[in-house]
Amino acid sequence: MNEEQRLASQQVKQPEPSDKKSEKDYSKYFQSVYTAPSLKDAKKRGKEEVQYHKDFAIDEKYLGMGHGRKFYIRTYGCQMNEHDTEVMAGIFLQLGYEATNKVEDANVILMNTCAIRENAENKVFGELGHFKPLKQKNPDLLIGVCGCMSQEEAVVKKILKTYDQVDMIFGTHNIHRLPDILNEAYMSKEMVIEVWSKEGDVIENLPKVRKGNTKAWVNIMYGCDKFCTYCIVPYTRGKERSRRPDDIIQEVRQLAAQGYKEVTLLGQNVNAYGKDFEDLKYGLGDLMNELRTIDIPRIRFTTSHPRDFDDYLIEVLAKKGNLVEHIHLPVQSGSSDMLKIMARKYTRESYLELVRKIRKAIPDVALTTDIIVGFPNETDEQFEETLSLYKEVGFEMAFTYIYSPREGTPAAKMQDNVPMEVKKERLQRLNDVVNQLCGEAIKQYDGQIVEVLVEGESKRNPNVLAGYTRKNKLVNFVAPKEVIGQIVKVQVTEAKTWSLQGDFIEVVTDQKVEL
Ligand code: SAH
Ligand code: SF4
Ligand code: F3S
Repeated sequence: MNEEQRLASQQVKQPEPSDKKSEKDYSKYFQSVYTAPSLKDAKKRGKEEVQYHKDFAIDEKYLGMGHGRKFYIRTYGCQMNEHDTEVMAGIFLQLGYEATNKVEDANVILMNTCAIRENAENKVFGELGHFKPLKQKNPDLLIGVCGCMSQEEAVVKKILKTYDQVDMIFGTHNIHRLPDILNEAYMSKEMVIEVWSKEGDVIENLPKVRKGNTKAWVNIMYGCDKFCTYCIVPYTRGKERSRRPDDIIQEVRQLAAQGYKEVTLLGQNVNAYGKDFEDLKYGLGDLMNELRTIDIPRIRFTTSHPRDFDDYLIEVLAKKGNLVEHIHLPVQSGSSDMLKIMARKYTRESYLELVRKIRKAIPDVALTTDIIVGFPNETDEQFEETLSLYKEVGFEMAFTYIYSPREGTPAAKMQDNVPMEVKKERLQRLNDVVNQLCGEAIKQYDGQIVEVLVEGESKRNPNVLAGYTRKNKLVNFVAPKEVIGQIVKVQVTEAKTWSLQGDFIEVVTDQKVEL
């Protein structure tokens, strides 16, 4: 059997509608359940309206499925994936499974994967190899691959060919179908593959088991329509779909009532929030303006795309209160020519102008960014422009990456012509500047009193507590364990390169939101 025939033989059974309503709602997917993903289909952007499903419920017949069984999920990639893991964990618990943090004890292992760079993918393949002996020891073990890598044709083919220890592959648009997929995997001898290349609808009321009870992630939109030429996300996450404002506001209110202290709003390009509403003129600025009235101490968002960052949002953020003065604003490159072939749709000058506007409205704002070095054709001069922009903006921190070609993206067709040694050298030079500026930025806190949301014991020393400031600076200090989960004042005594050390002063009790 050749590869194509093998893929074709892995037909996934059509999902059984559990009631009449879902039969209607899911009907369009009956034609679009693929045996394997298709990048060609993932590129399409349909005009059809997004459906909102508010009646998610696990079919009763599955409720005992996890009895006496344990699940383990390993998560790679961005916060979006972390949050998807929280949803899948919620589904597992409703099915009666127990969580375990030991792979050896698990009856189901899920790899929630990231496709953003080649090395992210290689880690997953390496790990899948390690799971083979577990499977030999325990033939009942189910191993699943989900997340962004599952949306790639080449990955699914590679798993089919080389990793027969994998029992199921499902994508980012159908995690709510986990109960059916698990059921199918228990029943079937074949690998179960259910990846939808067309984006899914918005499913509300999914169960979630949040990590910790201090900080919470809240999706405000899914997908991305920006199609930056290097990026795989628009293919793995589908078109931009915003959640309705009321659903988001209700979720944040609930989190506030449950005692959460910080919410991070999630989307690949949160500044495009609301642009897909046909019946409503409502953007991220409007949403933030409503959320700032909720009695929760801190609200953040990630990630911002400079192109859609509008004046109204800046005006709202300048009101501060629970809206923190930290903005992650990926720039990718300081060269307008590079930005053009990356299809970022802004220039060095317009980015700097946006930074000036933000700084004027919020003088103490902390800006952080993402940068790619070694994009095809990047010259030394263009790289120097990135260094000079970095210093001109005075970023406090950055995630820096070597360009990695992703199959199916326009940049992958360009010649990857910057030699690896040059890429590595540029990354090193950039990181030196990043470290230097990070060290300088952090020095300004020396001697100051900062507000810290206490997350728990420090990873290095259980006698020390650790937490983050509004501007996301890590602070270590000694205090009674009772302050974990609270916002406290700390007097900074030492500024290191990446973190602050200080003396605990007191718990901040008055966290009323200023309007
Ligand atoms: N939506 C966010 C970014 C999500 S991906 C935004 O537009 O800002 C996170 C970061 O990974 C990107 O900002 C980019 O710096 C990096 N990245 C994305 N694709 C990459 C690739 N093919 N090679 C190297 N880095 C990449
Ligand atoms: Fe990728 Fe660009 Fe979308 Fe960010 S905005 S997820 S970099 S395509
Ligand atoms: Fe990776 Fe997918 Fe996030 S590719 S960065 S996990 S959206």
